[in-house]
Amino acid sequence: MAKKPLVAHTPATLSRALAGLKSSKRRMALVPTMGALHAGHLALVRLARRRADRVVVSIFVNPTQFAPHEDLATYPRTWAADIAALTALGVDLVWAPTVEVMYPQRFATRIAPEGPAVVGLEDRFRPHFFGGVATVVGKLFLQCQPDIAIFGEKDYQQLKVVTRMARDLDMRVKVIGAPTVREKDGLAMSSRNVYLDATERAVAPTLHRTLKQSATAIATGEPIDAVLDSGRSTITQAGFALDYLEARNAETLEPIESIKAGPIRLLVAARIGKTRLIDNIAV
Ligand code: PAJ
Repeated sequence: MAKKPLVAHTPATLSRALAGLKSSKRRMALVPTMGALHAGHLALVRLARRRADRVVVSIFVNPTQFAPHEDLATYPRTWAADIAALTALGVDLVWAPTVEVMYPQRFATRIAPEGPAVVGLEDRFRPHFFGGVATVVGKLFLQCQPDIAIFGEKDYQQLKVVTRMARDLDMRVKVIGAPTVREKDGLAMSSRNVYLDATERAVAPTLHRTLKQSATAIATGEPIDAVLDSGRSTITQAGFALDYLEARNAETLEPIESIKAGPIRLLVAARIGKTRLIDNIAV
């Protein structure tokens, strides 16, 4: 039987556990998550295992990245299954702080990311989001002091924001991106997919299909604006309320004028029923 990971809920147990795991010769990886782990998260953990000698996974549903109208209260929590999956992958330590540990009384400091965090994509629809993410990820980096940290391309803007934050604030961690893991029909795996009813679930792969078709069309020289307009109608006609479908510079996430301004990333966010889905693809 695989050995269960150590579990730390307080800074004192975390310090003790890290002291046992760390050494100058060993590389330590951190995989930050909000739990409700699926095959996408587990692929990040496997990548961490390959790239490092010790693997720490954090599980913390971070209230500061949810707006009051969002799904903090109902966000899926599957602790026992998460620990079982992480045990099977040989994870060394699970860091699962309480909200009070992360944000003690009179907590008053926040990281305010700019650059890729203010380009009019997720930030336009979730203005509180990247401040909350950057602050909690900054804290996780300082608490765990990993050599590398793995983030999914599924949340592409988040990956760019965290990468830039680590560089700008001289955090001694190498941020590594991992490809999006998908269901067989192309839907990007997400903890929020459990919110979809059967009809919505059947329509959900439209997002990935449209991204793929749009990427091919742009790569073969079709005008970007026309391709995006057609993609927007496809998504809307499938029954989504579209937040955005955009072509951006893959590094800066700034708008692009032509295919020459590439490499290009297509990014989409759309709502169906009570579920908001995001996805992205390289051109
Ligand atoms: P969460 O949504 O739990 O995702 C944790 C990590 O898993 C993120 O890096 C995310 O990009 C990655 N991930 C999610 N679905 C994936 C998929 N289908 N394929 C590959 N990777 C996937 O993202 C967060 O949590 C939070 O914002 C966090 C960074 C933990 C800060 O609170």
